[in-house]
Amino acid sequence: MSIIKITTSIVLFFIVFNSPVWATEVSGKMIAYSCSGCHGTDGQLASPGNPTLKSQPADDLEEKLLRFKYDKLASSIMGRIAKGYTDTELKAVARYFSLLK
Ligand code: HEC
Repeated sequence: MSIIKITTSIVLFFIVFNSPVWATEVSGKMIAYSCSGCHGTDGQLASPGNPTLKSQPADDLEEKLLRFKYDKLASSIMGRIAKGYTDTELKAVARYFSLLK
């Protein structure tokens, strides 16, 4: 491969991977899809076992999720689920549910 081809490849690589299309901002809404089976698509499901999430303060939701994740709050399932997300993702999904009316 000539030096020009290599240089072009490197330049293209940086153009593609620096473009906004690849900028993955953590999306609370995307994460919330994986919660909807139990908590409802709008954060509320008519099932007594699965708490209503919508309209709860974001800080409270985030704190509970972090406590589930770090085994500071007993749970049947949420500890395992929360461990699958970064702290930043839990913050984003907490904020998403808190904004649902
Ligand atoms: C398999 C069903 C299930 C899924 C999927 C699930 N949850 Fe839960 N969630 C529960 C249950 C059950 C509880 C009650 C605590 C426990 O026993 O784990 C709960 C509790 C919670 C609580 C505490 C609410 C309160 O008022 O005490 C929060 C916050 C929460 N879930 C957020 C989420 C988020 C965010 C997701 C998606 C990333 C999610 N859950 C996915 C079943 C689920």
